[in-house]
Amino acid sequence: MINQPEILKRASKELDSVVGRDRLVQESDLTYLTYVKACAKEVFRIHPIAPFNIPHVSMEDATVGDYFIPKGSHVLLSRPGLGRNPRIWEELLKFKPKRHLKDDGWDVVLTDSNLRMLSFSMGRRGCERVLLSSTMTTMLFARLIHRFTWNAPPVCQILT
Ligand code: HEM
Repeated sequence: MINQPEILKRASKELDSVVGRDRLVQESDLTYLTYVKACAKEVFRIHPIAPFNIPHVSMEDATVGDYFIPKGSHVLLSRPGLGRNPRIWEELLKFKPKRHLKDDGWDVVLTDSNLRMLSFSMGRRGCERVLLSSTMTTMLFARLIHRFTWNAPPVCQILT
């Protein structure tokens, strides 16, 4: 976002209009911070915290899309393999939060029920606390944008 100041500016503008300058972001504001959430989701897509999900073992033969997975296989899901899949995402290496905004401009959630990216996983072994962790992520992120001014560090000259 620092490298694309227009994105940072749009997120700050959203915060100024929803929250204003006289108070901190509150949980009740989060529903309205759609662009900030789209930015957080784009971070999850392009820079996931770890490349692979925790390994799982298939309990029975299964077919997922084009893949046959025999019983007893150890299955690792690649987060970059999904979040940077050229069959799904256009300009996949570009940080582009607006790709997560819905046409009606309404709410953005950090999960992806179509599994086009894997942040919280899903099903029986999916994250138990998606709402809590989405709230914490958005709140922290929003406060960092709202209350601080962000610039790229000056180029340091190393004296030898
Ligand atoms: C941004 C923050 C978080 C992310 C991205 C995240 C992501 C995930 C993912 C991908 C899994 C599935 C792991 C697997 O495949 O086995 C998982 C599982 C789980 N998460 Fe989270 N998590 C987050 C925060 C939290 C928080 C704050 C809590 C609790 C307060 C939590 C509780 C759990 C639990 C209990 C499971 C195990 C579910 C099970 O196997 O039955 N997570 N999380």
